[in-house]
Amino acid sequence: MNTLIERLISKIKQKKELAGVSDETVNEVLVKLFKREPKLFKELSIKFNEKSAAYTKTIKLARAKLRRSYGLFRVEKVEDDFKNVEKVLSSHSSTKERTSFYSELYPQLFSITGKPAVILDLGCGVNPFSVEVMKLKMLKYYAYDISEKEVELLNLFFAWKHSSDERFVGKAEVLDASKIELVRKLPAADVCFMFKLTDILDRGKGHKKTEEVMKAVPSKWLVISFPTLTMSGKKMTAPHRNWMEWLCQRLGYEFKVLNFPNEIFYVVRKGEL
Ligand SMILES: C[S@@+](CC[C@H](N)C(=O)[O-])C[C@H]1O[C@@H](n2cnc3c(N)ncnc32)[C@H](O)[C@@H]1O
Repeated sequence: MNTLIERLISKIKQKKELAGVSDETVNEVLVKLFKREPKLFKELSIKFNEKSAAYTKTIKLARAKLRRSYGLFRVEKVEDDFKNVEKVLSSHSSTKERTSFYSELYPQLFSITGKPAVILDLGCGVNPFSVEVMKLKMLKYYAYDISEKEVELLNLFFAWKHSSDERFVGKAEVLDASKIELVRKLPAADVCFMFKLTDILDRGKGHKKTEEVMKAVPSKWLVISFPTLTMSGKKMTAPHRNWMEWLCQRLGYEFKVLNFPNEIFYVVRKGEL
């Protein structure tokens, strides 16, 4: 039998926009509420009745407090945007370009890697919104970027998505992917995306940083992409990154190449963890 508090927490979180709040947070709100209104707690402890005025009032006050304190009203406000994933993806240039081929990209990627159950996305931008196109049933998605704004938006999106499908769990965190010790400690994954990130990490100083990150990421597969347009918007005459191919050979990683408009993807097999 669940305790009084557990039953209240579960009821409070049935509201879609509160489903992503942790049990501890709801617990804290309830404890404070009962301190302020001990009569409510007393009534519910003596007779727990879901039709009682005390029960209705407790649920209402706790939900209102959660919405106020944690800014959760924002989820409701942006929910329409989340339904319109294409609009969010179009807000960033990398993902905007991909909207024309995301639906081909993921089946091709997963036909090589197998369907992942755990994905890491380094320097993710808003790419995790494309999870809607991946058509994966069970998925843990860990997304990392140095932009706090992106991370905040992604966590709202993940909470919203989890509330409509419990088999999806997403978490975004601020993380500098050039910090190798942090990368090493990331959750073990099936696939790690590094889309249009390595040029930024290497900063034109060779490819040592990319090599270190590739070695450190705890993932069986890495998917590393590069733009195939020059800075002036012309098509590159040689879009392949020879250094990436040599690097994979040196490290003993097998790879396949996928070409899409304006972007080349290296699907790299690191092997079992
Ligand atoms: C060109 S965008 C690519 C975004 C996304 N991967 C995509 O392709 O749709 C580069 C992203 O990397 C992030 N970034 C830059 N330096 C980073 C670093 N050291 N660690 C993690 N993310 C970084 C930026 O904030 C930005 O979102």
